[in-house]
Amino acid sequence: MNMQAEMKKITEANRDAWNEVMPRHREAAGERWDKAFMQAGFVCMREHELELLGRTEIEGKAAAHLCCNNGVELLSLKNLGAGECVGFDISDAAIREARERAGRCGIECRFVRSDVYEIGPEYDDRFDLVYISAGGLGWMPDLKLFFAKAAAMLKDGGRIFIHEIHPFSETLPFDDADDADALRIVGPYFKDEPYVEYGGLDYVGKASYSSAKPQYWFVHTIADILTGLIGNRLEIEHFSEYEFDVSAGHARVERARAGVPLSYIAIGRKRGGPSSA
Ligand SMILES: C[S@@+](CC[C@H](N)C(=O)[O-])C[C@H]1O[C@@H](n2cnc3c(N)ncnc32)[C@H](O)[C@@H]1O
Repeated sequence: MNMQAEMKKITEANRDAWNEVMPRHREAAGERWDKAFMQAGFVCMREHELELLGRTEIEGKAAAHLCCNNGVELLSLKNLGAGECVGFDISDAAIREARERAGRCGIECRFVRSDVYEIGPEYDDRFDLVYISAGGLGWMPDLKLFFAKAAAMLKDGGRIFIHEIHPFSETLPFDDADDADALRIVGPYFKDEPYVEYGGLDYVGKASYSSAKPQYWFVHTIADILTGLIGNRLEIEHFSEYEFDVSAGHARVERARAGVPLSYIAIGRKRGGPSSA
């Protein structure tokens, strides 16, 4: 199988996995998000993220959310004053839910079902902000190509904003692991091959289930992330690390307050000229 076919196999398997789990998430969340977004101006981000988002001056700016899932962060960006808002996700079920919520709550956002790697050229040079939230990058078999797409979608001077799970946290046991010590290293930080798993995506309802279909999760190191940004003309303006768990799987580690990085925020600004990726 060539590289492109291999990537497609992986991203389509992940699409199936997300289509399978989304009804579980939806049921577990119940009316929560609809009720929240019925209140004018509701925003789901935490304070430290809001402070940094404020620095990107999003008022009136065109924003894209890659891997937008059920749309709650994009709806929040709109409520923060963004202009055109477009969310992209590979999962049919996630996009359906996001569209329905935006309609019910009367918030003007558009949601497009697409593999990030296949987002069309009509979205190039269109956005002032490309936003990525927790649990997006790990589904990407090729991080450089992912950042190349994000950079292509940005106007010169536009910003990529990433609020993600810290890859170091991948070395520690998840909350549901049979491991008494939440701070014991149980996995590698450097890992070339993806984790191939069957089920286990219900971080909302926390129900365990197994699936017949595989899903593929990649551990991208901080070096992968920084070089992916730099190589695609995305100049790093900000990078900060936090003890907050944004994966919904490391609450025990967060509670331990042991000085372990569980999340980070990176902001990059697109400069003109050719990329060196
Ligand atoms: C964990 S969610 C991230 C959004 C949000 N922070 C959350 O926690 O729900 C990951 C999303 O990435 C999407 N995804 C995975 N691979 C993708 C791809 N190749 N292209 C577009 N979206 C993808 C999944 O469908 C899923 O909705």
